[in-house]
Order: sequence, then structure tokens, then C-alpha cells
Amino acid sequence: MDHTQRLEQMIRIARQAGEMIVQAREKQNFSRQYKGGDELVTEIDVAVDQMIADELESLFPGEARLTEELAPDRSQLEQRGALWIVDPIDGTVNFAYGHAHVAVSIAWAMNGEVQLGVVHAPFLGETFTAVRDQGARLNDESMHCSQANTLERSLVATGFPYARDKRAPLIKRLNHVVHACRDVRRNGSAALDLCHVGCGRLDAYYESVLPWDFAAGLLIAREAGATASHLYECPESLPVELYGENLLVSAPDIHQSLGNLLRDADAGQRLES
Ligand code: IPD
Ligand code: CA
Ligand code: CA
Repeated sequence: MDHTQRLEQMIRIARQAGEMIVQAREKQNFSRQYKGGDELVTEIDVAVDQMIADELESLFPGEARLTEELAPDRSQLEQRGALWIVDPIDGTVNFAYGHAHVAVSIAWAMNGEVQLGVVHAPFLGETFTAVRDQGARLNDESMHCSQANTLERSLVATGFPYARDKRAPLIKRLNHVVHACRDVRRNGSAALDLCHVGCGRLDAYYESVLPWDFAAGLLIAREAGATASHLYECPESLPVELYGENLLVSAPDIHQSLGNLLRDADAGQRLES
């Protein structure tokens, strides 16, 4: 199957997942649980993960999968070959509270390099896609990041980890950003934040996130012209494109200044989530 056909299948599966999510909200009878202490997970997160796994296995048997709910073993990132990276619901808290900012994220990587990405927002009717070196699209229209060139005129998104004891140092960053930039957004879906940098609805996004949160969205943002980097050096054992600590993605002209601002906020203290 060539990349175009693969992407078509990814879009079809993501939209099918989106229908499950929309129907579940209409019925409102899904169970809610907690994993790792305070992290909310619904039975729909698991059901969507299972449906996507079944579809991928039947179309691409034997290709490895890293998925948030059913196959979260990140040692797979160290292997070569094909790897699917799936977040069945990015924005679970939004989903459970009835907000629209919810996405299905599916990426396909080869030897640690993401080749194809789909982020589908079922309540918003928007599907973001990218093919490596071939640009990014929103509902099949070509899209581009903003041309922001000063921090004062930049809208910046971020997020916070579920573990509340890890949030304090991030408030220092937020304090710097809110004083230097136009304003801040915390929309609750990393995948959509990245796509929104890609289509110019945001000028920048920074956070520490896991591969399923950002693999597809990062390709989409980069293919739309955004600049991506990490605030600090990445470990050599992991593919840099699948490493999510201290990620910064922005319009090219503000990248350096926003990176410096965030490192100043850390005041020499490197943050790991
Ligand atoms: C979360 C969202 C959120 C981000 C968190 C993620 P989930 O993913 O992307 O915006 O701030 O770091 O864990 O749990 O809704 O799939
Ligand atoms: Ca997520
Ligand atoms: Ca999720």
C-alpha cells in the first residue's frame, strides 16, 4: 500500500473513531475510571483504542503499535521498522465534561521518523493530515502556520501534566509567557494545539507530552511550516521526533525568543515530567 492509500485508511479509521466518540456523548452512559491516581479514562477511550487496533491489524498485520490505553509500552520506540502511534481520545477531560476540543490522533512512523499523521476532531468536523515532505492539510485544503514575529503579538498554548505535584515549575514558565505574549490558551488537547499552530490559530505551543499526544500533530505542524525543537538536548537512545519532553513548536520567527524565554523561566533548572 503506498502512502496515499495508507493515509486514506488512516482518515477513514479516525473518522469511524470520531463517530464512536460523538455517539457516546449523545448517550452519556459511559463509565469513568482513574489510572495512575488522578488521570481520568473512560470506557470509550478503551473501546476506541480497541477498534483502531483491530482495523490496523487487519489492514497492516504485524506492524507494531504504540497506543495510549492498550499498548502503551514505550520500549517500542527503540525498535526500527514500522510503528503506529495512536491516541484514541486526545482531550479525555474535555470529552468527559462535554467540551468540543477532542481529537483522535493516528501517526505512522518508519525507523523513528513520522511519515503520515491524521488528527480528527469529531465535534468540530475538522480533519488535519500530513504526509512527510508533502505539506499539511485541513479538510483537504492546504494550510500554513502564522507569520508571527514578536512575542507581544503571539498567542501561545500549553498544557499541564495530570500529576499536580509536577505543575509548580510550569507556573514559572506560564508567568513569563503571560507577561511577554499576547495571551495564553490551555485548550486540553495537545494534538489539536499542534494542528492549530499549523493552521495559524495559535502562534506557538509548548509542553512535555507523550508520543501518542504529539506524533501526528507534530508532523502536521512542521509540514505546515512551523519550527519544532526541544528546550534541552534529547537522549540519544530515542528518535528525536518521538521524544516529547520540553517540546516547543511555533511560527519560525518567534522560535528562538520563545525558547529563550522558557529557558530563562526555568532559571537553569531542567524540567522532566
Ligand atoms: C492530554 C491532553 C492535554 C495535555 C496532557 C495530555 P489525554 O491527553 O493532550 O492537552 O495537556 O498532557 O495528557 O489524556 O486527554 O489523552
Ligand atoms: Ca493525549
Ligand atoms: Ca488519550
